[in-house]
Amino acid sequence: MGDKYLIVIVEDSEITLYKLRAILLRLGYDVSAHNRPQNALDWLASSHKTPDLIISDVMMPGMDGYTFIKTIRANQQTAKVPVIMLTSQTDLKDKVAGLEAGADDFISKTVSPDELELRVKALLSRNKEKSSISQSTSKVISVFSLRGGVGTTSIAVNLAVAISEQLEIKTCLWDMALSGGQCALMLNLKPKNTLASLADWPEGSIEEGLLSSMILEHASGISLLPSPQFFEEGDLVNRATVDLVWTPLLSLTPFVVVDAGNHFTDPVISVLERSDAILVPLAPELASVNATYQVLRLFEEMGIELRKVLPVVNETFQKSSLITAKIAEGLKKEIFAEIPYDNVNMVRAINQGTPYLSLAPRTSTSQAFGKMAQRLLEKVNEFEKEGPAEKPVLKITKDKFQRYF
Ligand SMILES: Nc1ncnc2c1ncn2[C@@H]1O[C@H](COP(=O)(O)OP(=O)(O)OP(=O)(O)O)[C@@H](O)[C@H]1O
Ligand SMILES: [Mg+2]
Repeated sequence: MGDKYLIVIVEDSEITLYKLRAILLRLGYDVSAHNRPQNALDWLASSHKTPDLIISDVMMPGMDGYTFIKTIRANQQTAKVPVIMLTSQTDLKDKVAGLEAGADDFISKTVSPDELELRVKALLSRNKEKSSISQSTSKVISVFSLRGGVGTTSIAVNLAVAISEQLEIKTCLWDMALSGGQCALMLNLKPKNTLASLADWPEGSIEEGLLSSMILEHASGISLLPSPQFFEEGDLVNRATVDLVWTPLLSLTPFVVVDAGNHFTDPVISVLERSDAILVPLAPELASVNATYQVLRLFEEMGIELRKVLPVVNETFQKSSLITAKIAEGLKKEIFAEIPYDNVNMVRAINQGTPYLSLAPRTSTSQAFGKMAQRLLEKVNEFEKEGPAEKPVLKITKDKFQRYF
């Protein structure tokens, strides 16, 4: 297809047709020119191409411009393509009929090359914004552990800040630790409206505006979709809530980091299943390693691709008898990242409601967060290039795990 924009022109006056074509070719666009609407429809059907813009005359033999646009709009392949109508006179009635048929803009047949260029560029850029959103190339990274207190929330918060600040990708932190989520507290934000208000939502979708009203902006540049405020409201969020939120959230932000907490609940599973990668934090102690082993085993049973599951050793205490290489050997899984111990700043960060990364940006712990964010982005891009895995990457058996330790 090439990466040039493709513009289809339909105009029965060949002089106008070739004049417009010449201008657009000079501007670097690919042009497919037709002197009858039916020829254009036939060409679209046989080429299977979806143009980036269609320019159509109104009065044409065989089929008028209004019917042509309605046909374009009724076809899934071309329903969303912007259309400019060519008018010979600036008759309001013609414009109303054009708008009703689905036209996006009008230009006079005697348009100057400069004006044509401006109008075409304006429509193309508007449409590109729309399509990049609807194709949803947004990425979702979840942080999940089956053991509490291993730094799941600290990692989610600081990963979101690292992606947003250092990699300059707008990032939303989604607190899915539904009962007792701590992200708002860690960022010193006060939620007003939360996902709990969507319980028993009567329709199959929500407006982006409603979701935006729940999202809080933080000074670090990240935004937060908070968990329900009260512990007992956690149960109000279910798989249906996740379905409601997913598409609008991904169209609002190109990167989402989820604090998925440490409970295998139905809504959490539905987020994990759809995530592009899952970080599994573990502390370097045996109970934590065991919890990680259980996560890997359960994910494998659930059909979650294990290449997307990335264990992170977080040194939540100072001295450890389990070295990372041994943990990796025991889990039969590479350790994706190691976060060094820094209890003083970690606790200060929580108590002040400031992300660790903002409070202590130059420590080795902050450097590790930054490096992890960078590697994660590379990994996720790799997964995208590779396409879906054919089969789970490794096979874990309980037997092997117990024998090792
Ligand atoms: N790298 C680290 N160095 C030192 N302390 C850390 C580190 N990471 C986390 N901690 C400490 O571990 C404790 C738990 O952190 P955090 O709340 O992020 O974990 P969690 O797994 O989300 O816990 P919960 O199960 O309560 O949700 C906090 O006191 C935090 O300061
Ligand atoms: Mg937590």
